[in-house]
Amino acid sequence: MSKRVLVSGGAGFIGSHVTVELIEAGYDVVVADDFSNSDRTCYDGVRKITGREDIPLVEMDFCDLEATRKLFSDYAIDAVIHFAAFKAVGESVAEPVKYYSNNLTSFLNVIQAGRAAGCKNILFSSSATVYGEPDTVPVTEKTPRKPATSPYGNTKQMCEDILRDSVLAYKGLRGIALRYFNPIGAHPSALIGELPRGVPNNLVPFITQTAIGKRECLSIFGDDYPTPDGTCLRDYIDIVDLAKAHVYAVRRMLDGRMEEDYEIFNVGTGRPVSVLELVNAFEKVNNLKLNYKFAPRRPGDVTAIWADPTLANEKLGWKAERTVEQTLASAWAWEKHLAGK
Ligand code: WQD
Repeated sequence: MSKRVLVSGGAGFIGSHVTVELIEAGYDVVVADDFSNSDRTCYDGVRKITGREDIPLVEMDFCDLEATRKLFSDYAIDAVIHFAAFKAVGESVAEPVKYYSNNLTSFLNVIQAGRAAGCKNILFSSSATVYGEPDTVPVTEKTPRKPATSPYGNTKQMCEDILRDSVLAYKGLRGIALRYFNPIGAHPSALIGELPRGVPNNLVPFITQTAIGKRECLSIFGDDYPTPDGTCLRDYIDIVDLAKAHVYAVRRMLDGRMEEDYEIFNVGTGRPVSVLELVNAFEKVNNLKLNYKFAPRRPGDVTAIWADPTLANEKLGWKAERTVEQTLASAWAWEKHLAGK
């Protein structure tokens, strides 16, 4: 019998891509989402890509403990992947209570209700933001975490700690935290992708919206960083590559192959790319010119961070495969799909 995986936040950007990869790997999936920062677009896209009309969708808020309990009793869940969370760094600074309350309560409820229902496997979507401005790059999982610079980042650190402590305390529980670097791009079908609300904070949605004419001009934040071309360095990872890492991690849990009951993996490419390089690659692969200008640094940005993905490569047997060019072409195809072009 195939194992069933609950994807909280399964209608979102990462959750929808992970749902596709899980289904294609033979898992049963239950998608749960409150649509607070998503709509039906990606859920419908997932059904189209997989050809599965019958993927259960539960509309609910994980801050509701009773609803969370009901979900776990309605479905026999073998593993949970928890994405459901608020994710805007700037908003979290303005509204910390909203972030702490939502991101912590929902995760605590998942652990609590899952445990009561006998679900032993929890995968948490963490972030490279937990490393802050690292003293050395690339970062390994042993690189010390730095004090978080935003309530959003702090909730990622706190949820990692909640998972670690829960695994330590509750016999039989296993946890994996995946620390994502910068997920970009869209499914090659262009049926699912990122749906930013309002003005995008992240680089690639801003690039594609500028290219399509929704935004006038991209500001490149800072050209005087101590990097080869003066712009920041990041580890941009293709969303489908990132989604596949979840399948490997879930399999490792469900097959009983974890070496510790709580494990952490960086999910990145190991390849630093500057903002300017990314912009140039986008122009080249999509054969267009982007309107951009240099602007002052954005407060809070780190100069350079990229992953050492060796642990995930060796222990999960996973590796990022797609080139930046392929990924940027997929991001552009998705933006055009949204514009009906
Ligand atoms: C990348 C680079 C910017 C926009 C953030 C969160 C992190 C994670 C992912 C998500 C930086 C530059 C950006 C623009 C620019 N969280 N940039 N012009 O800051 O690395 O990570 O998103 O849920 O926690 O902190 O990603 O895409 O915002 O920026 O020049 O209009 O692009 O300065 O160097 P970041 P990003």
